[in-house]
Amino acid sequence: MLATETAPPMPIHTILGIESSCDDTAAAILRGNAGRAEILSSVVMGQTALHADFGGVVPEIAARAHAEKLDHCIEQALVDAGTTLAEIDAVAVTSGPGLIGGVVSGVMCAKGIAMARGIPLYGINHLAGHALTPRLTDGVAFPYLMLLVSGGHCQFLVVAGPDEFRRLGGTIDDAPGEAFDKVARLISLSQPGGPAIEARASAGDPDRFRLPRPLLDRAGCDMSFSGLKTAVLRQRDKVLQDGALTARDQADLAAGFQAAVVNVLTEKTRRALAEYLALSPAQPTLCVAGGVAANMAIRASLEKAAEDVGADFIAPPLRLCTDNAAMIAYAAFEQMNHRDADGMDLSARPRWPLDRSSPTMLGSGKKGAKA
Ligand code: KG4
Ligand code: ZN
Repeated sequence: MLATETAPPMPIHTILGIESSCDDTAAAILRGNAGRAEILSSVVMGQTALHADFGGVVPEIAARAHAEKLDHCIEQALVDAGTTLAEIDAVAVTSGPGLIGGVVSGVMCAKGIAMARGIPLYGINHLAGHALTPRLTDGVAFPYLMLLVSGGHCQFLVVAGPDEFRRLGGTIDDAPGEAFDKVARLISLSQPGGPAIEARASAGDPDRFRLPRPLLDRAGCDMSFSGLKTAVLRQRDKVLQDGALTARDQADLAAGFQAAVVNVLTEKTRRALAEYLALSPAQPTLCVAGGVAANMAIRASLEKAAEDVGADFIAPPLRLCTDNAAMIAYAAFEQMNHRDADGMDLSARPRWPLDRSSPTMLGSGKKGAKA
């Protein structure tokens, strides 16, 4: 380029994001300009009430609700952003992993809009959306270590680029949020179980019941939470042999369970940090995302683990830690400079590991297949 020439202006992108892989129908409008992105709107329509009677997310009910709500959700996001479909110049949609009926609803809706408007379509991995969020909220530079910890996911990822992820380990069965929800049900607390257990645990004695710390004796960063839940069930049944569960029993079981989760997550995070720092000593950053990161005991303990090795600790605001569509639009914004848009043959994928070199996890949680 001649010195007198000015560089062409970076294109401004207005991206519609769509998320429907679990039990939240979400749409968002993101404005991206010269490497910076601003959320113009983010609408999340939950389905908690629809699944309340069933003790978990019912895939068929979720898929139908997504199909019914997507249009309204997108309309609301456009109104909130003060824009119209005519001004959108790309569509980003979660195309996996997740409950397949919901993912299909989102992908079909996105294809319709992209085709009608003749604009590019980007299929986004839901986990990439979570993993890239600290860049949207805090401008964190690559690489960083991410602990994704929610009702459906639990894994350590080294995030090295918009589509460059290395999985260091994760749960081999339940996600921690799933365990919080199940344990809350076992001890007659309300749903979602995480906040209910956290509140009750504050008055409890974490040492009254002996609960296991699964997989701490095994090297590496893999975790397991299913046995812990069964151990709580056994302790509860012992208490029930002597009469009803009292408020004190509930508090002590909640405190014991939470302490075990804190312990396992923290110890495994220390190991993941050590592995990560050996790979990237110059960028000591630990990020967390997911609903479980709302737990103050967990958050404080993870922050301490980061501090102990001189790493920064970043936790995006909760509304962007949990499922939302702004993160899907943002992942497309990050990826559009690195890859082509997807075609109308974009398919919905129930399983889609972010790290293509790591083996696919077996099993399926209440919120869909493990990635
Ligand atoms: O990320 P999220 O909103 O949805 C997905 O799982 O995709 O996470 C929801 C999960 C639920 O299982 C809920 O019990 C858990 O996060 N959670 C908590 C807390 N708040 C929400 N777990 C522990 N402590 C909390 N304060
Ligand atoms: Zn999620």
